[in-house]
Amino acid sequence: MDIEINLKEHAYHIITGRNILQDINSYYDFSSKKVLVVSDDNIPFRYLEALKKVISFTYLILPHGEKTKDITHFLEIQNQLLEQEFSRKDVIIALGGGVISDLVGFVASTYKRGIDFINIPTSTLAMIDASIGGKTAIDFQGVKNIIGTFYQPKLVLIDFDLLSSLPIRQFNNGLVEALKASYIYDPTILDLFENIPQNLEEIIIRSIKVKKYFVENDEKETSIRKILNFGHTFGHGFESYFALSNTLYHGEAVGIGMLLLVKDKEKMLTYLQKLDISLNEDYDENQIIEFIKNDKKKTNNTISLILVDHIGEAYIKETTFDELKNILQGGKEYVRRLRK
Ligand SMILES: NC(=O)c1ccc[n+]([C@@H]2O[C@H](COP(=O)([O-])OP(=O)(O)OC[C@H]3O[C@@H](n4cnc5c(N)ncnc54)[C@H](O)[C@@H]3O)[C@@H](O)[C@H]2O)c1
Ligand SMILES: [Zn+2]
Repeated sequence: MDIEINLKEHAYHIITGRNILQDINSYYDFSSKKVLVVSDDNIPFRYLEALKKVISFTYLILPHGEKTKDITHFLEIQNQLLEQEFSRKDVIIALGGGVISDLVGFVASTYKRGIDFINIPTSTLAMIDASIGGKTAIDFQGVKNIIGTFYQPKLVLIDFDLLSSLPIRQFNNGLVEALKASYIYDPTILDLFENIPQNLEEIIIRSIKVKKYFVENDEKETSIRKILNFGHTFGHGFESYFALSNTLYHGEAVGIGMLLLVKDKEKMLTYLQKLDISLNEDYDENQIIEFIKNDKKKTNNTISLILVDHIGEAYIKETTFDELKNILQGGKEYVRRLRK
């Protein structure tokens, strides 16, 4: 499948399939280019070896985890490019999850004011979300994604076979973003959740198309692209609140955030349970609200919240922090149902 992202100055293709690493040459012209591949130490080496059969490159393997998305590793990659005398016509490939694609995309957007980059996402989250919207970033001084750019890749190559090594919890974590895509825009994705293994490719492809719609219509997130943040205001609040106990992954936190915001909570619960999302701890709504206020650097009393009353139709509503607190309190009994 070939999905084109049509942006005025920088259209690019997302190619999906199985066992397609070896076809990378058909989608990008590597001739006389230097290539650096950046990956992390959880990604099986055989993926690099598969690429080695068809293109030549040097590579850099970074430690896995969010901590790698920092200024130190940003500089480490820049240093490699400089030492290997990469020019503006050369190319860098991100082979990994969202951490690698955010970091490498940011490097690509700044080295010599921008060199080509290619995303080969290896996690469901990166396939559905992180590798395709053109947002790049690193974390700094404890603030997530605070330094970054909008910079589109030249190519995204999605090989579903790479998911075979992804741990199941990470696999499900990414699929929450597909659940989100369904709730905000394409209700048909929900039906595919009835048999995830069988429908996996279609779930990912339809979710990419949802993201495509929002990105093409609002590349820099000044208006409707904000809808993609459904579940994320509470999600980020939960991520911060549970950060110390390391309880929740990003998608899991967003899933719980969505649960609080949908009308039909029973239905959302069944899908979260299908994805094995669980939370055994209670939360203090006052502290979550403080995290949300900090996250948004809020000085006034309202926040734009994305709501979904009917699956497939999202809207934005200015909401006071008192209302947010009510939603957090009211949803508690449902969140408790995710206990194991
Ligand atoms: N730019 C965007 O639009 C955007 C959107 C969503 C999320 N993000 C960012 O993406 C990051 C989260 O992405 P993620 O969930 O992919 O995190 P990640 O890159 O940390 O990957 C999750 C874990 O799975 C491992 N992994 C990935 N693919 C694997 C595979 N095929 N086999 C074995 N192990 C594998 C990784 O090593 C890591 O330990 C966050 O930093 C988030 O801010 C960015
Ligand atoms: Zn997300």
